[in-house]
Amino acid sequence: MEYTAAVITMSDKGSQGLRKDTSGPAVCEMLKENGWQVVYTSIIPDDFETIKEELIKCADELSVCLVMTTGGTGFSPRDVTPEATHAVADREVRGIPEAMRAESMRITPMGMLSRAEAGLRGGTLMVNLPGSEKAAKECLAAVIKPIKHGIDVLR
Ligand code: MTE
Repeated sequence: MEYTAAVITMSDKGSQGLRKDTSGPAVCEMLKENGWQVVYTSIIPDDFETIKEELIKCADELSVCLVMTTGGTGFSPRDVTPEATHAVADREVRGIPEAMRAESMRITPMGMLSRAEAGLRGGTLMVNLPGSEKAAKECLAAVIKPIKHGIDVLR
């Protein structure tokens, strides 16, 4: 079975070329090291409708096993990644963000500020990561191993 993944970076500045995205490439690297095939990457603005469309494309058209998003999980009025993920999910996956926040809290109390969610849409698991490269890597490290078993059961 091929473990395919998409990595989507949410960033108004990144999508306009005003800031270099380092968290997306870092997430891709970690996924590859763990046996995932990253078949799609994109950088899109923090816009609710755009995020929903991108998630639907990855799940319904590309049919990837996993979509990892980075960014847009904090308190800024433009941070709407969790809401968009929730809106397109047919089932919630609470344990993954719970594990990410629990591990993050061992590193920094700031970990409680990420509102990241995870959910299933058909045969695709969608997981939100915070936007900074450090935070994204820490959160992904906390959950990357058990996700494969989840995908085996899902497909
Ligand atoms: N999680 C971990 N593991 N390490 C971190 O440094 N930073 C936090 C939090 N989660 C952090 C973390 C901070 S400062 C914020 S504001 C939130 O993630 C949301 O980040 P985002 O808006 O870039 O998604």
